[in-house]
Amino acid sequence: MTVPESSSDEGFLGTCDYDIVIRGGRVLDGTGSPWSAADVAIKGGRCAKIGVIAALVPLVFVLTAAGSDAQPAADPDARAKRIERQLTAAERFQLLYGLVSIPQAVDAGARIPPELKAPKGSKITAGYVPGIPRLGIPDLVETDAGLGVANPGGLRPGDTATALPSSLALASTFNPDLAFAGGAMIGSEAHAKGFNVLLGGGLSLARDPRGGRNFENLGEDPLLAGVMAGAAIAGVQSQGVICTAKPFAVNDQETLRLTLDARMDEAALRESDLLAFEIAIERGVPGAVMCAYNKVNGAQACGSDFLLNRVLKGDWHYKGWVMSDWGAVHDWSYFLNGLDQQSAAATDSKPWFAAPLQAEVASGRVPQQRVSEAVQRILRSIYAVGADRPSGSTDIDYAAHSKVARLQGTEGMVLLKNDGLLPLRPGIHRVLVVGGHADIGVLSGGGSSQVIPHGAKPVAIPMVGKYVEAVYFPSSPLEALQRSLSGAQVEFQNGYDVESAAASARDVDVAIIFATQWQSESYDHASMELPDGQDALISAVAQANPNVVVVLETGNPVKMPWLAEIRAVLEAWYPGQEGGIAIADILTGAANPSGHLPVTFPKSEEQLPRRSIPGLGLPYGTAVQVDYREGSEVGYRWFAARRLEAVFPFGHGLSYTHFELTGLKVQPRQRTARTTEATVAVRNSGPRRGRAVPQVYLMSARGVPMQRLAGFASVDLDPNESRTLTLPIDMRVLARWNTRCRCWSIAGGDYVFALGRSAQDLSETVTIHIPGGTLGP
Ligand code: BGC
Repeated sequence: MTVPESSSDEGFLGTCDYDIVIRGGRVLDGTGSPWSAADVAIKGGRCAKIGVIAALVPLVFVLTAAGSDAQPAADPDARAKRIERQLTAAERFQLLYGLVSIPQAVDAGARIPPELKAPKGSKITAGYVPGIPRLGIPDLVETDAGLGVANPGGLRPGDTATALPSSLALASTFNPDLAFAGGAMIGSEAHAKGFNVLLGGGLSLARDPRGGRNFENLGEDPLLAGVMAGAAIAGVQSQGVICTAKPFAVNDQETLRLTLDARMDEAALRESDLLAFEIAIERGVPGAVMCAYNKVNGAQACGSDFLLNRVLKGDWHYKGWVMSDWGAVHDWSYFLNGLDQQSAAATDSKPWFAAPLQAEVASGRVPQQRVSEAVQRILRSIYAVGADRPSGSTDIDYAAHSKVARLQGTEGMVLLKNDGLLPLRPGIHRVLVVGGHADIGVLSGGGSSQVIPHGAKPVAIPMVGKYVEAVYFPSSPLEALQRSLSGAQVEFQNGYDVESAAASARDVDVAIIFATQWQSESYDHASMELPDGQDALISAVAQANPNVVVVLETGNPVKMPWLAEIRAVLEAWYPGQEGGIAIADILTGAANPSGHLPVTFPKSEEQLPRRSIPGLGLPYGTAVQVDYREGSEVGYRWFAARRLEAVFPFGHGLSYTHFELTGLKVQPRQRTARTTEATVAVRNSGPRRGRAVPQVYLMSARGVPMQRLAGFASVDLDPNESRTLTLPIDMRVLARWNTRCRCWSIAGGDYVFALGRSAQDLSETVTIHIPGGTLGP
């Protein structure tokens, strides 16, 4: 189904203040072209109305701090080799496993031997590897994660950080510059707080819309996920903080993640989950890769010779180190299969990379050369990123960073449906806000990525039936709407009493219902339904009032049985610490929505490759096999192959203006080239400035239908402004992996491309002849 874009220009309320000033960082505009420092002075400034100001003042991200004095070594390989040679045997082993520095664990008495505990007084965090001061090798002080600097369980009292929206929101921007800016922001905070390793860079593919950790990852498409993760990783590392890419690989469901075996043939793997990592690693050059909990085709990911030695270090020539996920190591032999460092060794059944590995080296079963290699990889990343410079001393400019959070929040929201109700008209008198704890704040996702936001105390609400709490960031959409709609009466009902909410909705001009779905690491959902009777609440309010907007704060696509009854739906995801304001900006038209879906919204579970999550409900520890029979046909590709119609397709997203997309051309590839390019003309034919996200899809190769996102762009345009954009096309996206030559194989013949607003809203097509050939991995 496609939904027409609204072109309404009414209701342009409010102001914005997105001037983000950067000192010493890379400066970017919306097209990704770096600006010089001089441009900052010219282009920086405060904006009054986004529709006007953005024309005059392109967004300038200015990150405080650290980028300026990060000093990566000129030749990190040579330096790593030189320093490694000077280490004693004991010092080398010291770098191969991590200690535990969470106080409960540290104080858990005899359970954890003292040699596996971080020294008293060290930072309370996810992981810690002591350095070697005599050679200037820093401690590795590791923190989660990709949405901000996490503070697990608030164990570092008072340590708050800027909390970005979920990664799904970031992916919805289709804007790598914004990913870089967010990464650089987190990197600068991590550095200032004394961390030099960030456990971010999550890019498991969203193979199932019930997956608990999808909110931490970048959607269902390997190109989009890889490009966005690469930019975010590069942003973190621009601040002298090593960033991971994780979890490698195919940890695509949370249920029984420690004991599941993800099965898929090699070609499919290379064209999907592995391609996302391949692209992200090329672009972001992460200092470390974190291997996953699960098995892949029978081998534990952290002990998989295929994944680690053959693909990552062999085919991709990866030079950094592989660290394990917490509790993912079951044997010392993983070291021979490519794992370089056991994280928080006390979280595994044995500290395999401590005494047991040392015994294996002493016996000659593990060559000394392999130990040197692992150590050199760790040192190399430290020097390449500049993670050895002193940290923990820089002030944090939280005010500037909150603007990055607000911008990601606003650009990441996806207007799914709008029949003209949005933006809200300036003349409205009475508005009812219902549900979703919109009086308190906005929802965030749970697990190791949980950030305690800076500014005001978050509110934790216990989840029915679970021993966990959902955390609401105190950015109240209700209050933001009350401020933006100052002439109107904006009231609130918590939605617990459906009849009373419906009765209150009867006399208002507009009812805005907030619907939430909490998701977390470790839990998948059984269904795509909104929990706690929220569907009934929405329907009841829609019966009472024809003017209903639904705002979703979800970690995944959800079913919308009420869709035909309401006039507008905004997917706000988990919108971060400025989320309430960002939602109000979009609803009132202070900001023009530009997010596009990085995941397909199916009609129901019936359309999915698996009706239910394998192993859901089985006891912890049960071995389960997950057969990814869809292979590389993930998400919209599955929908295309099966000719299924989505409720909202991948790539879909409405605007308050209208864009014409025309003139698709694709260059035939030179025989040995790894890329080609498409050009597309985009014109803003609507009434206000907005951001267009043109997409180019491969539709068939040599007569064989196959849909692939081949290229995309994200560009701001004024009314009547046109731009011709060049989109690079990576040939691997068009190719098939050939297991015989262990290379990408491009069959010569006619390839059909289409220009799209989404995977299911396609306009012109072009056919070009592509010469056949192969590409190395
Ligand atoms: C998660 C990782 C995280 C680690 C450290 C694990 O449970 O899977 O993503 O980085 O914990 O907190």
